[in-house]
This record gives sequence, structure tokens and C-alpha cells, in this order.
Amino acid sequence: MPDVDRRSFLVRTGLALGATVLAGGFPRAFADQPSSPGKFESWEAVRAQFLLSRHLIHLAGFFLASHPTPVRESIERHRAGFDADPIGYWLVQEEKQEAAVLRAAADYLGGDPSEIALTDSTTMGLGLLYGGLQLREGQEILTTTHDHYSTETSLRLRAERTGTTVRQVSLYRSLNEVTPSSLVNELVMGIRPKTRVVALTWVHSSTGLKLPIRAMATAIEELNQHRAEHDRILLCVDGVHALGVEDFRVNELGCDFLIAGTHKWMFGPRGTGLVWGHQRAWPVAQATIPTFSTQAYDIWMKLAPAADLPPSVYMTPGGFHSFEHRWALAEAFQFHRDVGKSRVTQRIHELNLQLKQGLAAMAHVTLHTPMSQELSAGIVCFEVAGMTPREVVEKLRRRGIVGSVTPYATQFARLAPGLLNSEDEIEATVREVGNLRE
Ligand SMILES: Cc1ncc(COP(=O)(O)O)c(C=O)c1O
Repeated sequence: MPDVDRRSFLVRTGLALGATVLAGGFPRAFADQPSSPGKFESWEAVRAQFLLSRHLIHLAGFFLASHPTPVRESIERHRAGFDADPIGYWLVQEEKQEAAVLRAAADYLGGDPSEIALTDSTTMGLGLLYGGLQLREGQEILTTTHDHYSTETSLRLRAERTGTTVRQVSLYRSLNEVTPSSLVNELVMGIRPKTRVVALTWVHSSTGLKLPIRAMATAIEELNQHRAEHDRILLCVDGVHALGVEDFRVNELGCDFLIAGTHKWMFGPRGTGLVWGHQRAWPVAQATIPTFSTQAYDIWMKLAPAADLPPSVYMTPGGFHSFEHRWALAEAFQFHRDVGKSRVTQRIHELNLQLKQGLAAMAHVTLHTPMSQELSAGIVCFEVAGMTPREVVEKLRRRGIVGSVTPYATQFARLAPGLLNSEDEIEATVREVGNLRE
């Protein structure tokens, strides 16, 4: 914590004496221990970082992460610090740890720390962003019929609160006929002169379809060339099932906002997430929950002159958090980088292809997720003739295979091969689905 900030904190908390003592440093146990690259050559070495039960084949890992060793250890270090001296630990660590998390997130995403707001989940990010985007009279939000509950409900709540028009379009009639260009065309056809925001989901958890976000962004960029800045279409993407799966750099993606939880594919601490925004787009977002950033607090206390802080700072909701989880997020980004971003993508796609090919060959199975890597990621949705999706998932669970049912009006059985699975596990899963006959 820089001196000025420290001083203001001391005034704010009346902690002057205690803090001076603490400034001498914390026990070694609290020190950061960066993980070392190059140690995850085998997938078994990656798997060994997790305490996931070995008795099950986990194909619902995207639902909520199990923590790998560096994340678990970091949480424990911070927890010990807080349990020993909550205010003192916060005082010494807060600025440093938050900066480290933002730095790690930015390095992983390929952006700048000032472009990132930290949240507790995808849903929190979606709710805050869609609730807070400032639209002019008559401007509308365009979304699709394929989005998750959290996008749809955030937009509905906004519409009810502010009267903003939210319009939905369908991007396809049948998944069998979908191509990247058909998806782009359907989206573009849905955009009207008053469309200010386009709200999409990169990888649909309803079907496993992956949208061609880069191509959609390019099409929107072309439309934007004929628009004034205040009418520019803002592309907002729920990227939770792409983050930690797809190998992308956020500043090359072409979207204005990317919203994601980091407690799914990223293996970040449960209860963590982020909103990334392009510098040109952030000013359109207005915060709902007061930030607890030291600078914002100092300005409020008149300890520092009024200043323009990055909008992402205001969009990071305050109140105290489960800091042991939030600060351990840096380790999750490092973990993924240690494994290797492109390796992660390749592995997840290979395992998903293996599963899809196995399922597609069975007469009693209807595979809904596209086979191509361009149109799919880490989620596979299917039906088994004569069985409800719930029955399929329950029967598989009894055979030690953990899947899930898509939580949408139209339900499918859903399996999501990820980094913690092996080819043998996928083979066993295909065999068990093969045994699921009436
Ligand atoms: C597409 C999509 N967006 C958002 C969410 C919610 O994520 P979170 O738990 O991070 O709020 C989910 C699933 O849980 C999802 O599938």
C-alpha cells in the first residue's frame, strides 16, 4: 500500500498504531509463492493437482470448479492471515493482492488491468453491466433466444426497471444447418438502427453451440462505421464457457465487454469472476454498487482530490469480500498459463470430439452439439431415445459418470469433457451411453 493510501486507510480505520507495528511485515507463511512453469507435461500431472474423487468420471467440471493445489494453498494462506488478524491482514495485503489479481487476469486475457472489474460470478457481472449501461431515449438492446437465464433475467429486470426495449432474435432454426456465416447473417439481420447493445453468449450451455464471436464483431464493426459514437453498437458477450477453453486475446476479439465467472473452466476460487471492457466502451457503464477502491474512498473522504478513476474501478463492487478466494484467483490464471493456453484448447477440443464421434455413431442417441471445432467448445448435448435427459444423467451417475441436465426450457443431457479427463474416461463414457438402451 503506497504511503498516501496507507495514511488515508489509517485515518479511515483509526488503526494508526497497529498498522505501524504490522508494517514490519507478515510471517513468511503469508508470502506469495509463485508457481513454477514447466511442471505439467503430462495430463496426469495436471489431474494430480485436484482433490476430485477418483471414483467418478467428472464431466460437469464446468458447473463449479474444483480448486487446483496452488489455488487451494493460496486460499489457505490468506485464510490464515485473516483468521489471525482480519483488519491487519487486509491493511497490509489489500492493494497488493488486488493489483496482483488484475495483473494476472490481464496477462492471461491479453488486456490491461485497468480494463477489468472483479466480480463474484458471471451472473453478478451480467446483472451489474446490463443494469448499468447508459442508453439514450429510444435505443434498444438486442439479444437472442439462446442465452442463459442470467443474461435473459438481467435484461428483463433492466427492461422492467427502466423501460428499455429488449428484443430477442433466434440465430437458427435447426442446429444441423448452422454455419458460422449463417449465424453472423442472422445476427446482422436482427440489428436495427436503434440497436445500441447486442447481448450474446459465446458458448451456449443449452446446446454446446459456440458462436463465431470474432466474425460477429467484424460484422458489427462494419455497421458501426456508419454510426456516431453515441449510437455505436456495443457487443457484450457472456464468455464463461470460452474463458479457460478457447485460446484468445481479449483485445483481438472485437467485443466491447466480456463477462465471465472464473470459477468454472478457469479453476479459479468459487465465487470469483470478472468483466473486461474495452477502453472505449467502459464509460457507457454506470456502477450500481459502491466500489471499495482505496482511491474512490479517499476521494469521498476528501483525502485526495477528485480524479477520474478508470470506470472498471467503479464497476468493481465494494463491500468486503471473501478475500481469501478473490486473492487466490491470480493463481488460477497462472495455473492455466503454466499448463499452456493453446494446449488447454487443443486438449479440450480433442476430448470433446472423441465424445461426439462416439455418440454420433449410436442409433439411439441424437447429438445436438455441432461436430466442428469452429462451432463447439467443451460442452456436448444429446438425447437418448425413450429416456428423459434427467433419466440419462441419473443412470450415468449410477455408473460413476457425472453429467448434468441443461437448465433451459428445452432440456438435454450434457457432458463436458475438460482438462481433468482422460481418453480412457471418455471411452468408458461412450461405452456406458451405448448401454443406455430402453
Ligand atoms: C452461459 C452461462 N452464463 C452464466 C452462467 C452462470 O455463471 P455464474 O455461476 O458464474 O454466475 C452459467 C452457468 O452457470 C452459464 O451456463
